[in-house]
Amino acid sequence: MVNIVVIMNKIKPLKLGVKEFPSNIFYAPLAGCSDFPFRMMSAKFGKPGLHFCEMVKMDALIRNDIGTFHILDYAASMHPIGAQLCGSKPEIAGQAARMIEELGFDSLDLNCGCPVDKVTKDGSGSGLLREPYRVGDIVANMVAAVKIPITVKIRAGWDEDHLVFKDLVRIVELAGATAITLHARTREQGYIGNAKWPWISECVQAATKIPVIGNGDIFSPSDALKMMEETGCHGVLVARGTMGQPWIADDIRKLDAGISITEKTLADRREMLLEHLHWTKIYQNDRKALVDMRRVGCWYFPKAKGTRQFRDAIAHAASLADVEVLIKTFPFGEELGNA
Ligand SMILES: Cc1cc2nc3c(=O)[nH]c(=O)nc-3n(C[C@H](O)[C@H](O)[C@H](O)COP(=O)(O)O)c2cc1C
Repeated sequence: MVNIVVIMNKIKPLKLGVKEFPSNIFYAPLAGCSDFPFRMMSAKFGKPGLHFCEMVKMDALIRNDIGTFHILDYAASMHPIGAQLCGSKPEIAGQAARMIEELGFDSLDLNCGCPVDKVTKDGSGSGLLREPYRVGDIVANMVAAVKIPITVKIRAGWDEDHLVFKDLVRIVELAGATAITLHARTREQGYIGNAKWPWISECVQAATKIPVIGNGDIFSPSDALKMMEETGCHGVLVARGTMGQPWIADDIRKLDAGISITEKTLADRREMLLEHLHWTKIYQNDRKALVDMRRVGCWYFPKAKGTRQFRDAIAHAASLADVEVLIKTFPFGEELGNA
């Protein structure tokens, strides 16, 4: 049998404004997930072209809320690192952007996609999709305040009857944004149903001077290259696909270059989860670390026989020491393939 190696050459450095990022594979902001321990793992095992912290609120940042600074903690190995702000007030956007720049972030993104009622009720997150010109005002004030690139992450619209992504591309280009990320779902969709990649193609066509980063349903290296091939987007933002596979950026790079990808063994995954536990213990107090490990624990073994039982066992673990023993010794039914 002949093995055909396909070299795609889609993965390359990406310039956003004055800054060049080492690759066009970005890791998404994920509230409750893309925290310090998660980013330590991806900095070591995959290193995307840009890592995002979880989103933080503009209002909380400018009132020097201590929990907000904890969310924004990062290590030198995580550069390039991006912050994401959520808020709807143009009048505080410049001050908040300056604070992010002073914290040493490499880029700043405006969240126009969070669908949660608590966030949209004051017009933030995907609430901004209903006021495209407000997005322009917020972005313009951020751009005027800092030198780091300002980017914007949107959904396609509030619902299918109100698609605004093409208007928003032009508005944020004029306001000085250096890239736009389109999560190809509406607010109404939440996370249900497939992302509509043709919207990403339309967004690429509508953009006249900024790159479009495609987002939605990238769970494997081939999904990433397929999205770039089908839509012409200039980069990809991997979100849920990073959970439990912090190495996915490396696998995408390998697939793009025609290099074979080595599947992670069960032993590899146990070792990586132990390392994730190590960073979680450093970052959180014991009580919160135990809660976090209940969530993170099952990410790393998506295909192993016994994942459900493992998740139940972690959920009932009384201490972090018990979690560690479970990770080391839980009898999964079989070796597993790559997620
Ligand atoms: C648990 C979770 C937390 C998220 N938090 C954020 C966030 O803080 N900021 C943001 O812009 N998007 C957030 N998102 C949306 C993702 O970044 C991404 O746009 C979405 O999951 C679609 O990509 P996917 O289909 O590849 O997962 C979150 C998604 C999930 C599932």
